[in-house]
Amino acid sequence: MATTTTRAIGIDIGGSGIKGAAVDLTSGELISDRLKVATPSGGEPNAIVAEVVKMVNQFGKTGADLPVGVCFPAVVLNGRTMSAANVSKKWIGLEAEKLFEKALKRDILFVNDADAAGVAELHYGAAKGHQGLVILTTLGTGIGSALLYNGTLVPNTELGHLEIDGRDAESRASYAAKERGRLSWHSWARRLQRYYTRVEALFSPDLFVVGGGVSKQSEDFLPLLKLNTPIVPAVHRNNAGILGAAWLAARSR
Ligand code: BGC
Repeated sequence: MATTTTRAIGIDIGGSGIKGAAVDLTSGELISDRLKVATPSGGEPNAIVAEVVKMVNQFGKTGADLPVGVCFPAVVLNGRTMSAANVSKKWIGLEAEKLFEKALKRDILFVNDADAAGVAELHYGAAKGHQGLVILTTLGTGIGSALLYNGTLVPNTELGHLEIDGRDAESRASYAAKERGRLSWHSWARRLQRYYTRVEALFSPDLFVVGGGVSKQSEDFLPLLKLNTPIVPAVHRNNAGILGAAWLAARSR
């Protein structure tokens, strides 16, 4: 690891919840409680920033010197959020990284949430040591994607927004879509089958890694999928965003 910093704070902002913890980057383990609050309804910039400030402050003195990484469910280009699927449209075009830095009074590392999860699985989880193309997808409020080629992240791939049958894929196949439609594992798996078959046809990956909280129930749906590509659950599930954001923040110091 190209860093001498061995601890960092990771904050994972999602469409439903904001989670944060301090991380030991040597072991990839959380070294604090995992803090969690609901994402303020409407997902407005000022309300989310205020929750993140409260959360970072809870790490107190020990957190003051640690690098902070924040991941967010949008395309992130040079610190600017360029999309907003499950948060307020006010994020589109916003200098988000600067907004957080101003409010927190410190530099941060700001990255897409699925990309952070991909980095976590690459260094501490299911993608570790894999050559070739690994595609991580997170199944949550939306569908996030991280494309890792020979250990290098290709950021902002947004494969949750592939159009399938004229619909945005995540609106049919995310975990939120399963919940909304009260779908059985089998019904949801049929939608996932269409989704992963399309991604497989477009990218011919060597491995799929499936993240998001629902991956802890992977036994209920992954065996139902028939793909040519091996598909495995993420190791870090709901903590992957925290871990990856922390790792990237420490490396950027
Ligand atoms: C967003 C992505 C994000 C994913 C998972 C999608 O709706 O467009 O940027 O990674 O949700 O949160």
